[in-house]
Amino acid sequence: MKRSYIVDVLNSKDIDKEVLVKGWVRTRRDSKGGFSFIALNDGSCFNNLQIVVDGDLDNYQKDILKLHPGSSIAVKGTLVKSQGGGQSVEVKADEVKVYGHCDPEEYVIGKQRVSFERLREIAHLRVRTNTFGAVTRVRNKLAKATHDFFQERGFFYINTPIITASDCEGAGEMFRVTTLDHAAVPINEDDVDYSQDFFGKESFLTVSGQLALECYACGLGNVYTFGPTFRAENSNTSRHLSEFWMIEPEMAFADLDDDADLAEDYIKYLITTVLDECAEDMEFFSKHIDKTIQETLIHVKESKFVRLSYTEAIDILNKSGQKFEFETNWGNDLQTEHERFLTEKEFKKPVIVTDYPREIKAFYMKQNDDGKTAAAMDVLVPKIGEIIGGSQREDDLQKLDARIKDHGMDLEPYWWYRDLRKFGSVPHAGFGLGFERLVQFVTGMDNIRDVIPFPRTPKSAEF
Ligand code: 4AD
Ligand code: MG
Repeated sequence: MKRSYIVDVLNSKDIDKEVLVKGWVRTRRDSKGGFSFIALNDGSCFNNLQIVVDGDLDNYQKDILKLHPGSSIAVKGTLVKSQGGGQSVEVKADEVKVYGHCDPEEYVIGKQRVSFERLREIAHLRVRTNTFGAVTRVRNKLAKATHDFFQERGFFYINTPIITASDCEGAGEMFRVTTLDHAAVPINEDDVDYSQDFFGKESFLTVSGQLALECYACGLGNVYTFGPTFRAENSNTSRHLSEFWMIEPEMAFADLDDDADLAEDYIKYLITTVLDECAEDMEFFSKHIDKTIQETLIHVKESKFVRLSYTEAIDILNKSGQKFEFETNWGNDLQTEHERFLTEKEFKKPVIVTDYPREIKAFYMKQNDDGKTAAAMDVLVPKIGEIIGGSQREDDLQKLDARIKDHGMDLEPYWWYRDLRKFGSVPHAGFGLGFERLVQFVTGMDNIRDVIPFPRTPKSAEF
C-alpha cells in the first residue's frame, strides 16, 4: 500500500478508507478503557494526526506501550471522523509497525519546553519541534516564492561562483580557500607565495555574487542569484551569521528607483505568499513567538514604503530627541538602533534610505553628481533594520577606477569587471537580500541562529 502524507490525510474526505502513514510520535496518551492515542507528525505539515490504537492489537503490550516521543512508526488503519475536539479526522489503527524506539531518558525533545539556546546544541534534532518544523517550512516557501517572483518577471537564475579571487564588498572580511600546508607555507620575498596554491593566486569564499552577476546582467538583461555567502566578520549579534544565503537580482538599463521598486514588490510578494500558503505555521508564530507578526506583515504588504535620502534620515534622527548609543553625524553609518527608530517609531512601515555618503559604501556604487554621495539604498524593516542592501552601479570606467584606488585596492584583479565599463557600458542596478533576515522578519524569530538549519558563527561550526 502506498504511504500517505499527514498533510493530505488531514485534508482528506475519504472517511472509512484505509490509509498508511509514517512518522514520529509526538505524544502518547493511554486511556483507562485500554486503548491509546498517539499524536503522529511526519513533517509534511504543522498539525499532528491522531492515531487511536486499541488494546487488542497484537503488539499493544510489546510495542505500543513502549512508544515515547521521537519513536518512528508506520500505521495502517482506517480514516474515521474524530470523536474528540481539535481535529476532524483520525486514524483507527489496524497495524502499527515500529521502525525505531526512542529512549525517553536521553531524548529531551517533547518532554518539556526546551530553550532555543539548548536546541542549538542539538541542532540535528531540533527540526522535530513545532517551532523548527514551522520555520523550516516557511523558509522553504520563501525560497520557492523567490524563484517564482523572479521567473514570472523574466529574470534568469544564474549560479555565481562560491570560490572567488575578488573581494566584492571591499571590506576584507573573507575566508581564505587554500590547499597550502600550514606547517610549511612557501615563502617568496617574505610573503606567502600563493602562485604555488591550488588556484595559483589568493582565493576566498565569496561575500556576494554581485560582481559575477553584473557580467551576466550586461548580456542577459535581468538576472538573479540565490546562493550561500560567507563573511569572516567577528559579529556576535542576533542578525549576523558567518555563512548565510543571499538573493541578488541585477538589472541592466535600470537606475536606483527601478531597484527600489523591485525590492518593494519582491518583499510584498514574499509576504503575500507566506500568509496565503503557510497559514497553520503562521498561526503558530502568532501564538507562541510574536503576537503581532501577522498584523505587521499585513500592514507591510499594504503600505507604500517610505523613501528618503540618508541626509534626510540623519536630519530626522537629529531632531527626534531620541537618545542613541551611536552618534548621528552626517558621514557616520546608520546603526541598527537608528534603522529601527526610523522604521518602527518614525514611520511605522518599511523605509528605503538612499544616497549614502560614498565614503561609507562599497567601491562599485554609482557616484552622485554632488561629489559626496553614492546611489546606494538600504531597505529597513521593523525588528530587523537592514534587510536589503543595494545600489546603482558605477558604469563610468574613470570614476570606477578612482573609487577602487581610493579604497586602497589594486585595479589589476578587477580587469574583467572594469571591461564591462569598456565594452558597451550600461546603467545597471541590483540588490542583495539576506535570506535569514527575511525568515526572521516573516516568522518573528528573535535570533538568526534559529532560522537556518546549522548556523555558522564565530567559534561555532558544529554539525
Ligand atoms: O549590504 P550587503 O553587504 O550587500 C551586498 O553584499 C551587495 N553586494 C548586494 C548587492 O547589491 N547585490 O548585504 C546584503 C544583505 C544585507 O542587507 C543583509 O540582509 C544580509 O545581506 N547580510 C547578512 N545576513 C546575515 N549575516 C550577515 N553577516 C550578513 N551580512 C549581510
Ligand atoms: Mg549593507
